[in-house]
Amino acid sequence: MGNEESEYNRPLIHYTPEYGWLNDPNGLFFDKKEKLWHIYFQYNPNGSVWGLPLYWGHATSKDLVNWKHHDLAISPEKDDEGIFSGSIVIDHINTSGFFDDSIDPDQRVVAIYTNHDSNEKQTQEIAYSLDAGYTFTKYKANPVIDLNLTQFRDPKVFWHKQSNQWIMIVVKSQDFKIQIYGSTNLKDWKFHSNFSSGFYGFQYECPGLFEVPIENSTKSKWVMVLAINPGSPIGGSFNQYFIGDFDGYNFAPDDTQSRIMDIGKDFYAFQNFSDVEEGAIGLAWASNWQYGNLVPTTERRSSMSLARRYTLKEININPETKILSLIQRPIIPDSITAVNSIVKTSFHPTINNILSLVAQDSTGLFDFKLRFKIKEKRFSNQEKITFDILVQSQVQDNEIDTVKVGFDAVISSYYFNRAIKNKNFENEFFTDKLSTYMEPLSYDDNNLPVFELYGIVDRNIIELYFNDGAVAMTNTFFMNEGRYPHSIKLVVNNEDSKFEFEQVSLRHLTN
Ligand code: FRU
Repeated sequence: MGNEESEYNRPLIHYTPEYGWLNDPNGLFFDKKEKLWHIYFQYNPNGSVWGLPLYWGHATSKDLVNWKHHDLAISPEKDDEGIFSGSIVIDHINTSGFFDDSIDPDQRVVAIYTNHDSNEKQTQEIAYSLDAGYTFTKYKANPVIDLNLTQFRDPKVFWHKQSNQWIMIVVKSQDFKIQIYGSTNLKDWKFHSNFSSGFYGFQYECPGLFEVPIENSTKSKWVMVLAINPGSPIGGSFNQYFIGDFDGYNFAPDDTQSRIMDIGKDFYAFQNFSDVEEGAIGLAWASNWQYGNLVPTTERRSSMSLARRYTLKEININPETKILSLIQRPIIPDSITAVNSIVKTSFHPTINNILSLVAQDSTGLFDFKLRFKIKEKRFSNQEKITFDILVQSQVQDNEIDTVKVGFDAVISSYYFNRAIKNKNFENEFFTDKLSTYMEPLSYDDNNLPVFELYGIVDRNIIELYFNDGAVAMTNTFFMNEGRYPHSIKLVVNNEDSKFEFEQVSLRHLTN
């Protein structure tokens, strides 16, 4: 299905619904028996804007980039109700009693979600699946937590080995409390503690807590994630996180710092996958409540981000101080291949020596990777020492739409620009210029600063990873009707470029 005429802005490897409205990722899990990734999501099949009745939609993938749509997974009882955000766990040892020996221990799927009823009351409910996640039966004695509140939602549940119990992280949204509950059977829950920190915004949504390995060590730390909306410092919706320890009862943050998960405008309601074989993997809704319902894709709206692998690492935030930070790297499986590419080492661009990859039969899927040095350490602050990666559409009516990402050596900052004059879309909140300061990734033998940049463009979304995933920036963009990325170029903006590219690759990809 879908609307042919809007396929130019339908991403190829970022999940989009066939039609209708999508928001938060829900119930992410990996089926170890089938080696299959399952995602569920907030879904309105009756329109391409958010609205009740709201369902859990469902899709699966073998590689996290090629997706298969499935039927609705969980439906509300009435048309003015919603199955709101939540999570899935694999109840291997049948603590819930929902399963018997006929169900493989790796496929004992239990969903925990918020039921939003006709009176806007929000309660936590559970449902189980006897067919590995395709259909669900609601627990007869629902709800499992009812505080008689209208702003109480988004349970994320996981098994906590160390204290031998299920843990639920859920928010009392407008009370700015992340609540921690414990259970031995997923049905009876005991309140443990509250946690509040970071930016408030208007309300808390979609919390999470997961264990993340520290790079080059056998240690790990707990990361508490928290979505706030509206009122985030970058406008509208965003995800922040806190790093600390968790004993099954209390989350103890290492410091008072709120860290930003993704500095772009389109990364919200992050969730990690349950039951992954190794490490920590998650994804987010790639939109923003400021304009999610208004973007020009009529028959369906929104996509997910790519799935990312998460680790922790100490990174410099200035020359003197390192702090532990989440490192995010997109999962680009072997099923994605280069149709053609330009790869250079020791490339020295000048105004007349640029790199340009033009795709005649463009898929709209490109990536680029740069590792560069800056050949001088100090510049006068009146100089403009920049390079740009230009992502450009085909020429239509003598016009080209462009988004760009660049680096400014004078202020050591990356910038991104998605300003496109679009006849069908103008929105004050669709921030078009964003930037981020970066410390060098390292220094070379001559003490010159070295930086890295990876970016992946998929029709109408671009994910940027600065300095090997130390900072991520995800943004959607909307080129004019029929236009989508057809070329990618590296250009410098001054005659004697101060940049030396140790390695550059520009690739046109296909899935
Ligand atoms: C976050 C959110 C959640 C809620 C869901 C409803 O984007 O508002 O708090 O469960 O969306 O669709």
